[in-house]
Amino acid sequence: MQPVLAFDVYGTLIDTQGVVDELERRLKTPSSAQEFSRRWREKQLEYSFRFGLMGAYVDFAECTHKALLFTDRAMQAGLSENDCDHLMSVYAELPAFSEVGAALSQLKAAGVRCVAFSNGTEEAVGGLLSKAGLTGYMDDLVSVDTIKRFKPDPAVYAYLRTRLEARPEHTWLVSSNAFDVIGAKHAGLKSAWVRRRSDAPFDPWGIEPDMTVTDLEAFAQRLLDT
Ligand code: 2OP
Repeated sequence: MQPVLAFDVYGTLIDTQGVVDELERRLKTPSSAQEFSRRWREKQLEYSFRFGLMGAYVDFAECTHKALLFTDRAMQAGLSENDCDHLMSVYAELPAFSEVGAALSQLKAAGVRCVAFSNGTEEAVGGLLSKAGLTGYMDDLVSVDTIKRFKPDPAVYAYLRTRLEARPEHTWLVSSNAFDVIGAKHAGLKSAWVRRRSDAPFDPWGIEPDMTVTDLEAFAQRLLDT
């Protein structure tokens, strides 16, 4: 039975580094761009966890925007409303990592079903995939926004399974985000961790990925060799 692959989007298919370049252009201290981008991403995810736990769902772009405003305050970066609008528009059209197209092409040629699976709304992720030239590789786009819950709520992985109509042992969640990998494993799916940074630690929870790879090219190779 062929596996079905659900790819996380931000940080897995899509490189958020593009935000750093825009931050370097707009921050008073360009050298703080990497730190700003890291804190922005951490706060964005924290807000999704908090809104989810509160039962007060807002869409992921709202989490991203509020996290941007928070990080600006926390770092006293002095970004204007116009700066924030530009940064949010950059976030809406980020590039794919360099190896993603070739890896997805290889998987599609082997007849493997691939979907995008994200906290982002269908509209936001659809726009990202289109601008990054990835739409043609995806058989579907599954957004948690449909059920108004965020990763790693078990409900989102259950929803993914109903959309894919695939058995859990044949369904892979592929993500660079450890919380997503652990959430998928906890929900009974298989999972591959895309460890794009060689020094990235994994959570010491005793719930391990089925596969750890450096990028999607390595993942495709490992999957197709099995
Ligand atoms: C996603 O795309 C948040 O990166 C995560 O769902």
